[in-house]
Amino acid sequence: MKPLSLYQNHHMAKILIKNIKGLVQAGEDIPSVRKGLEMKQLDLIENAYLALEDSEVIGYGSMMDWEGILDWRDVEVVDAEGCFVLPAFIDSHTHAVFAKTREEEFVDRIHGLSYEEIAAKGGGILNSARKLAELSEDEVFEAAKKRVEKIIQSGTGALEIKSGYGLSLEGELKMLRVIKRLKAAMPIAIKATFLGAHAYPEKYKENKRAYIDLIVSEMLPAIHMENLADYIDVFCERNYFSVSEMEEILKAGIAIGLKPKVHVNQFSILGGVQKAVELGAISVDHLEEIDENDLNALKNSATIPTLLPGCSHFLSIPFGDARRILSAGLPLALASDFNPGSSPNYHLMTILSLACVKQKLTPEEALNALTINAAAAMELSESHGKIALGRRSPIMMTKEIPSLAYLAYAFGEDHIQRIFL
Ligand code: NIG
Ligand code: FE
Repeated sequence: MKPLSLYQNHHMAKILIKNIKGLVQAGEDIPSVRKGLEMKQLDLIENAYLALEDSEVIGYGSMMDWEGILDWRDVEVVDAEGCFVLPAFIDSHTHAVFAKTREEEFVDRIHGLSYEEIAAKGGGILNSARKLAELSEDEVFEAAKKRVEKIIQSGTGALEIKSGYGLSLEGELKMLRVIKRLKAAMPIAIKATFLGAHAYPEKYKENKRAYIDLIVSEMLPAIHMENLADYIDVFCERNYFSVSEMEEILKAGIAIGLKPKVHVNQFSILGGVQKAVELGAISVDHLEEIDENDLNALKNSATIPTLLPGCSHFLSIPFGDARRILSAGLPLALASDFNPGSSPNYHLMTILSLACVKQKLTPEEALNALTINAAAAMELSESHGKIALGRRSPIMMTKEIPSLAYLAYAFGEDHIQRIFL
């Protein structure tokens, strides 16, 4: 018989998980965002149980109290002795829809070319755009669906996906229609972000105005008509989109109900953070570079700074200064930035470990960044990121491990035993 995949569970509607070594981020008073010093706090119930009915949390607490909570007929009892149970992670920034991987550029970088040099030669995002144009919507969908299945099995319980490898009206619509189909086909929450302003396509290199006009006058109205996006993104960077170009594009998106979530400060500080905050961005992502003005702009806002350590690792660029962001009293989310060019990794346990090793986050801080704060970075605080009565958010159970810190410590090991969706 074919083994059941990790998450195709639940022939029985009631599940009692008992003898849990540590039940993480479970409680009725857990805030929807933790900031600064608060991020050291992580809710943990030792020797716990968790009861689910039709995937809804109907009880949890110390093992001392569990008896009598359920009507005991037809209950699947899971013994979690030695294991931890956590809310599934949230990946608030990915480019999981793409045509082909780009190992050849990776090898070019080993030989000494930089990411920016490869892009200047027509590689990078434009390489992905050429590859995407060659595939049909169905082909792109099938490839993306397989990828999202693996993403779910790796412990991700909600996913943001961007367009941005189309860079033409047809190409961007193709990507966003694929994301819309994934929303319907996959058993986790997915949000779609329109990133037409990811790079200037070859044929608009000398006429950038015309590409911005295409985004504003053709792409956005078509997206609005088909209801294809939740957010709007711009890659605000030297050689990509300036702050004023970003502002124009974001405002056009806002006008049709798309909230900004943006790529800023990956290589240079242009003032994009302040502008994005001013426009009410849900999150500002990358921030490998950051200055006092950026931190001050973020202080009086609800915008979530989001760091992407997988990208820093893979491109050998600086890691975003997580400690500085927390010292400023700000919240922090972490995401994978999963994409074929700068971060071909969707595995959030790896991100957890990188954040602890390279950004000096404690495991507790990094776990807050991957659960409640990441849920806030994709407006899923009401349903995801924590375990509480009445919620149906995805949950994961680890294998037997000595401690919670072990998840970050034993990098590369497969820690997950089971996913409950
Ligand atoms: O987030 N920085 C811009 N966009 C992606 C990379 C996309 C690519 O190289 O394909 C990122 O790193
Ligand atoms: Fe990205």
